[in-house]
Amino acid sequence: MGVRMNGKLLAVSDLHVAFRENHTVLDSLHPTTDADWLIVAGDVAERFWDIERALGLLSDRFAKVVWAPGNHELWTHPSDPVTLRGDRRYRRLVKACRDMGVVTPEDPYPVWHDEEGPVTVAPLFVLYDYSFRAPGAATKDESLRLAHDAGVVCTDEYLLHPDPYPTRDAWCRARVEWTERRLEDIPASHRTVLVNHFPLVREPTRILRHPEFAQWCGTERTADWHRRFRATAVVYGHLHIPRVTWHDGVRFEEVSLGYPREWRPRPPREPLRTVPTTAAPGPTLVQELLPGAAATSEAFTDAEGPPEKHLYPEELEIVEDAVPSRRREFATGRVCARRALRGLGVPPAPLLRNRRGAPQWPEGVTGSMTHCAGYRAAAVARRGDVLGLGIDAEPNEALPEGVLEAIALPREQEWVAALSRKEPGVHWGRLLFSAKESVFKVWYPLTRRELGFEEALIEADPDKGTFTARVLVPAPTVGGRPLDHFSGRWLCREGLLLTAVTLLPAPVGESAPTPPSGPQNRRSSGPSEQSAQMTS
Ligand SMILES: [Fe+2]
Repeated sequence: MGVRMNGKLLAVSDLHVAFRENHTVLDSLHPTTDADWLIVAGDVAERFWDIERALGLLSDRFAKVVWAPGNHELWTHPSDPVTLRGDRRYRRLVKACRDMGVVTPEDPYPVWHDEEGPVTVAPLFVLYDYSFRAPGAATKDESLRLAHDAGVVCTDEYLLHPDPYPTRDAWCRARVEWTERRLEDIPASHRTVLVNHFPLVREPTRILRHPEFAQWCGTERTADWHRRFRATAVVYGHLHIPRVTWHDGVRFEEVSLGYPREWRPRPPREPLRTVPTTAAPGPTLVQELLPGAAATSEAFTDAEGPPEKHLYPEELEIVEDAVPSRRREFATGRVCARRALRGLGVPPAPLLRNRRGAPQWPEGVTGSMTHCAGYRAAAVARRGDVLGLGIDAEPNEALPEGVLEAIALPREQEWVAALSRKEPGVHWGRLLFSAKESVFKVWYPLTRRELGFEEALIEADPDKGTFTARVLVPAPTVGGRPLDHFSGRWLCREGLLLTAVTLLPAPVGESAPTPPSGPQNRRSSGPSEQSAQMTS
């Protein structure tokens, strides 16, 4: 079944096309090639006609559209002429999809082919069962009571009817059992992309502002599905917090568009996310220090074979006169960078250098590279997700004589001395040096100004693995972020000290939720409200 694909596997969720601005986004969604598939992970709209029209539009454009329902599609909205409830409404949606050629959780799972072989793309509908309980709750009833007390109640309680099941959790149980059997039938030689509106593991819900909302976000019953069913990626939405996280080495990508008030203030980003199915680049040591939106690659030995094998001619020119060890190190760095870029869906291309020797990243990408004895790494991210990032690796060894005095401010020398007595396993002077390097790697591309070692004051937290940097010279504002301070993370492992600084775009402003008209105005209609301010 299927042929080798040259297209991309793209994904989006939570299009909420009832909002006019989101409808404009829908109109802008086009494939990059004739072979592109589009995963739509739920919450297209609330009204039947809106859902049908949007999916019809997309299925005309993309080689294949794969849909999993969200909670909003399953609502019986008072303004919808289709008054079916629960499972009957779902079946009617499935029928409408089939008429348009859109793949649903009821259909044979389509198979994507990449250079490593077949990947089954499985749209799932498993709902939630209140097992992501509110903190302190031992039962569903307690969990719901805590949510009511906090005024954080999902509109599903009013509009998502479980008929003919007695409860939504009973419906969930039936769906989980049925879906599990289907997933077990996928050939063992296939990797999978699991697509579900709700996250299959609880972890991504931990950043919700109102933890009570997690009970409407999934079920513990799917916690091992990404391992059991050989997922190379899990695609979900619902949280309206687009990002990548890693669980047991599996990439989980939240691909939501969300409500206009959520996406409008964010820096522009491509609404369609590329789902990488081959050789996931992470998680690496350095990935532990970076947000999920960053893709990374690392190497502990140099790439095999001569550097010419790995470099473009214009890259080779850069190290033409360098000694062989430097040429190998340079080639390995470029290999890491291209692998990391592939994690973002960026095709390979020469990576040249700017005047100061820093890599020139492709349009719309920011990144950083580092190398030290026995370690090379690259980290990249889309500019819409990350304004700047800097990584630095050092051997966990004492700094050469006299260097600490040259790079450390008096206050820094004090904490280096104190921590060196308390925790001699970490070479704190070296860590300070690395932290300053990481700060500079974020600072320079954004400001084009030098920053001396004495112009940033670092404070490290030995327990949390974090540090802060205060810039002591006048600092510009970039992308709404004043560059006068940075925060970073560090780790000491495998004989290495690693530091990373990430500069995220200015946070989304606190704003009141404005879901479409209807009874959902009474209550919160999606957990995204939890990351902004609750006013319901
Ligand atoms: Fe949504």
